[in-house]
Amino acid sequence: MKTLYLKADEKDAARVSAKILKDGGLVAIPTETVYGLAANALDPEAVKSIFAAKGRPQDNPLIVHISSLEEAERLVDKMDPRAYALAERFWPGPLTIIMKKSDIVPDIVTAGLDTVAIRMPSHPFAAEIIRLSGVPFAAPSANSSGKPSPTNAAHVAQDMDGKIDAIVDGGESEVGVESTVITLAAEIPTLLRPGGVTPEGLEEVLGEISISHAVYEKLNEGERVQSPGMKYKHYAPSAQVTIIKGSFENYEKFLKAQKDDVCAVCFDGEGKHFGRFIEYGVEGDGSTQAHRLFDALREVDETGCARAFVRCPETTGVGLAVYNRLLRSAAFRVVDVDIDIPVIGLTGQTGAGKSTFAEMLKEKGYYIIDTDILARKAVESRAVIDQLCKCFGGDILRNGVLDRRELARRAFSSPEKTELLNSVTHPEIIRLTVEEIHRAEAENAKAAVVDAPVLFECALAEICDFTVCVTAPEEERISRIMARDSISRDDALLRISAQKPEKYYLEKSDIIIKNGKNDDMRLQLEKLDERID
Ligand code: TXA
Ligand code: MG
Repeated sequence: MKTLYLKADEKDAARVSAKILKDGGLVAIPTETVYGLAANALDPEAVKSIFAAKGRPQDNPLIVHISSLEEAERLVDKMDPRAYALAERFWPGPLTIIMKKSDIVPDIVTAGLDTVAIRMPSHPFAAEIIRLSGVPFAAPSANSSGKPSPTNAAHVAQDMDGKIDAIVDGGESEVGVESTVITLAAEIPTLLRPGGVTPEGLEEVLGEISISHAVYEKLNEGERVQSPGMKYKHYAPSAQVTIIKGSFENYEKFLKAQKDDVCAVCFDGEGKHFGRFIEYGVEGDGSTQAHRLFDALREVDETGCARAFVRCPETTGVGLAVYNRLLRSAAFRVVDVDIDIPVIGLTGQTGAGKSTFAEMLKEKGYYIIDTDILARKAVESRAVIDQLCKCFGGDILRNGVLDRRELARRAFSSPEKTELLNSVTHPEIIRLTVEEIHRAEAENAKAAVVDAPVLFECALAEICDFTVCVTAPEEERISRIMARDSISRDDALLRISAQKPEKYYLEKSDIIIKNGKNDDMRLQLEKLDERID
């Protein structure tokens, strides 16, 4: 299909679009929220083609767009008095209201539900084609299912060129995120999706409202949802997105601890601190963030970065809508980098006595984080496994389970391959470590100790306040390894030579703990402990 390109301010654009819609075609049109993919809502065949063009699951219902209250009245069983109050205050505008439907609404629009979602857009072009065609239109956002919603005609063209009849260019969408969705079909009016109309604004009209937990949280397995759109991974660029909660200072520190394939998605004026960055609005100002958000998420892929770390918005006002979209684009990955307890990095060569020292710290009330365990846990994450399959081949899975041996065989076959493995697993290890640090905080530990042989290689040291290295003379390390693992002297030497030389550890560490025959680790521990108190 050849897609026709029109400009909203061209003389005939509205008339041509209205005609296509009336004839059962699909037109992407500008609205004040995001671009919509419109079809005649009362024509089931036309509506069906929306699902095909978007690749949208059929159980996800559509919003019906109207231009007058009379049209709304025809679509519902009975107009709720509260809907009139909401319409009075917020229509035309970015609010969608759900009520019991009337018989004229085809099942395909509502995905078989007995309720219908209705919105009166304020964008003049959208309003005009409803008037000209004389029919309400069903319109989801005009993106491929799962991708960020389009806020300009170029975004629409990226996803829809050749799949729909026409695309109308009406400039940048003003709000930038989809409409607020509230249902009046529940006992208490319930916010299903936050948007440009804020919870605070809704409460001014309705009194107390309830907010669906799906706004903030992942749905439980098998949970029946009030708004089917909430259950899909959504708004996601190809890069992996993580939300970073906390001060800018800690955000910067955390990003510096990452490898260089990362993109900082930050607030206006902050980008200069990073190599690759995208700014998405003013800190604390949800409206400017909403306006930029989806464009910013699309830009992430243009940077070619594998991972993006997004500064967390405030969750009040329009900020809640921004946070809600980000959560889904991040598949709910949020890392809180504001840490209130001291974090100590602990490392050392094999046989030096790192584990013994960790045990001693534990007795003193320190919380020990064993990153070897986290490294094993990291390769259990779905996202990491998918990534590993991309890098090392899908056959590292056996019956859907990761074959660790096979992965190790491939990943350790060359330094480059090892580096590739690390670039996938280290970020997840860092994320899990921060999670553990918060656990230490919750348990009121004296400090968190990140016990990591690869403290410096993994850049974990960057999130530590200071680093401690346990050392011992080589001869002593050799005998300890031989005794500990019952291996020969040659094998022990082999293990030692697989690690970085002692000098490397000593140069990078802030504190050295000596663990030779004549050294007293307890004494040194007391000194360290004083430093923490
Ligand atoms: O701003 C907007 O609302 C844009 C523009 C184009 O108007 N449209 C939009 O549509 O975002 P869409 O399809 O991407 O999102 C519609 C949302 C989905 O989350 C869907 O599950 C929910 O509304 N929805 C629609 N009808 C519903 C119903 N009867 N009950 C519960 N949720 C419903
Ligand atoms: Mg959508």
